[in-house]
Amino acid sequence: MIPAEKSKKQILLSGVQPSGNFHIGNYLGAIKQWVEMQKTHRVFAMIADLHAITIPQEPEILYKNTLGVAKLLLACGLDPKKSVIFVQSQIPAHTELGWILNTLTPIGELERMTQFKEKKEKAGVLAGLLNYPTLMAADILLYNSDIVPVGEDQIQHIELTRTLARKFNARFGETFKEPKEYVLKETSRVMALDDPTKKMSKSSANPASYIALLDEPETIRKKIQIAVTDSGKEVAYDEITKPAISNLMRIYSAFSGIGLKEIEAKFSDKGYGEFKHDLADVMVGALTPIQKRYSALTEASVKTVLKKGQKAAAKIADRTLTEAKKKAGFLAT
Ligand code: AMP
Ligand code: TRP
Repeated sequence: MIPAEKSKKQILLSGVQPSGNFHIGNYLGAIKQWVEMQKTHRVFAMIADLHAITIPQEPEILYKNTLGVAKLLLACGLDPKKSVIFVQSQIPAHTELGWILNTLTPIGELERMTQFKEKKEKAGVLAGLLNYPTLMAADILLYNSDIVPVGEDQIQHIELTRTLARKFNARFGETFKEPKEYVLKETSRVMALDDPTKKMSKSSANPASYIALLDEPETIRKKIQIAVTDSGKEVAYDEITKPAISNLMRIYSAFSGIGLKEIEAKFSDKGYGEFKHDLADVMVGALTPIQKRYSALTEASVKTVLKKGQKAAAKIADRTLTEAKKKAGFLAT
């Protein structure tokens, strides 16, 4: 196995699809961890545009969203001096290894993926949608990733990645490292504000179901104000009897750093209204600096960052792919 870098740091890779409605679920479930782990890990932050097209995309919107998400990653605190920020489609090794991994993957394994089962209802069955997890496995394995911070919906895909790494290694000799998911229990499944039984989702038809990272303070306050609550009036954590308030409390806790018990104590003699008011303040306080940094970034500066990221990512990905192809018996160039 080729070490991805000379540094001894563990390698973190994760990805996010380019989309306009980047929300607090994406932030708390994934990106916030990438930013925090820059201190201890070598971070590869990928914009998964090839994954995005498994649901048809308008070209100009895809283009705009790719740059927009890159800007957001920077605004959230990813530091291009420390981390590699890159666009998936700019590294051909991903699709190439993805193809090789497809030839090791029984269709049945792909068909039983929860995300495939859910999405195929909405979009019709596209081959790309079915094969999405093998491409994701390639993303992860190319960088010898140790750890992949994601929300709960991606765990199954990382399990498949491990299976494929083992399979390839068993057949062709030790090549890939088996990665582990990193899932923060409290924020791995941020629920929709209009329905605590559904995951907060970019594709929801109701914008009041999510808080976008770029929502104006007034919009945030309004959305929190109309977020559904449970019967009763106590701010108490109980996932079964109070799923809506519990979701809001987890969000409060993640943005403020205050524990759930402390939140209960803080609002013990207060109702939902005051809690929601405070939650909106906490959120606006956390998102405003991100939004300010976002506005200050130019398209040119983002493109420069992505170009640098492409170069750094390609070096590692190409090296791993070359080794894998050699082991599998392909002619060297
Ligand atoms: P995507 O929007 O599918 O590109 O997701 C990007 C990252 O955000 C992935 O790691 C997802 O698991 C995570 N994520 C998406 N929605 C949520 C949510 N509602 N709660 C927690 N994490 C989420
Ligand atoms: N499939 C992920 C999502 O929709 C995005 C993604 C693509 C990813 N490649 C990845 C996440 C590799 C982690 C590792 O959220």
